[in-house]
Amino acid sequence: MTSINSTRLNSLSTRVSIIGAGKVGSTLAQRIAEKNLADVVLLDIVEGWPQGIALDLMQARGVERHNRQIVGTNDYTDTAGSNIVVIAAGIPRKPGISREDLLKINARIVTESAKQAIAHSPDAILIIITNPLDVMTYLAWEATDLPAHRVMGMAGVLDSARFQTFIAMELGVSIAEINATVIGSHGDLMVPLPRYTTVSGIPISQLMDARTIDRLVQRTRHGGAEVVTLMKTSSAYFAPASSACLMAESILLNQSRLLPCCVYLSGEYGVQDLFLGVPCRLGYRGVEQVLELELSNTEREAFMDSGKLVRQSIEEAKAILKTAE
Ligand code: APR
Repeated sequence: MTSINSTRLNSLSTRVSIIGAGKVGSTLAQRIAEKNLADVVLLDIVEGWPQGIALDLMQARGVERHNRQIVGTNDYTDTAGSNIVVIAAGIPRKPGISREDLLKINARIVTESAKQAIAHSPDAILIIITNPLDVMTYLAWEATDLPAHRVMGMAGVLDSARFQTFIAMELGVSIAEINATVIGSHGDLMVPLPRYTTVSGIPISQLMDARTIDRLVQRTRHGGAEVVTLMKTSSAYFAPASSACLMAESILLNQSRLLPCCVYLSGEYGVQDLFLGVPCRLGYRGVEQVLELELSNTEREAFMDSGKLVRQSIEEAKAILKTAE
């Protein structure tokens, strides 16, 4: 089954293709279309599913009153000419699936879908959401052979948003006043940076004691797991979709926003040949600048530790993929 909407996308329209029309992918499609950022092509392996989601989102236009097209498909030719391709396909972490199985299944899904999507949209910028994020972003970059500045993973925006949320809840202040920075890998070893986290420009160390900050840092590290524990059959999707949408917006509108993203490091922070979360400037060409923050020894060690684990997992994933060939 190919696309169901009789409306064809205007070949001149800005287009975002989302591979994987699950909870994250479909929520992201809604955000992008309703924010009037681009037309959206939703692709999934399950026949009928993306077509149904797309039709539902198209019907919502009668109420939301936007003119963006949303197309659901199982065929990569419908994704051709995308400005951005987002990979949100894969299986989420759940009980009964080992880490190795997750790595194996998602590595295969991400590399295959990235290759196919980029074959139809060779000029696109690639945003990866599938976990384990830093590993999947590296594998997608290798599989597509794209220039590194056109490949990035979504994690830092989400982790920073979680840190911001917990600070706002603790202090009882508006989240609009809070800027938080989280770097490193997306997982238990992420590195929230209280020194670079402020409320209306005031460092949080002047508003909370060290124990409170440490508690919020720990909660941020387990922000995704906390959602899974509550929901049991799903992982988070609203905040991940919002975070990917912010990245897409900065690229499509060439806003040059400074956002923490999983990007290629070739010497920055003393790290070579790894995708890891750091602040970067996102614009029309993708990653336009990697910002090197000055880190304390403890912060640098924590960042290096997260990088070490990502490198090990990449090697593991490559070995698994090789034996499975
Ligand atoms: N090609 C296209 N789509 C695929 C493929 C494939 N080869 N394999 C699986 N999918 C689709 C599934 O059919 C499903 O619709 O990917 C979708 C995944 O959706 P969900 O299971 O709802 O998972 P979701 O919560 O959206 O998370 C997706 O994002 O945040 C991460 O950890 C999360 O890796 C996970 C990803």
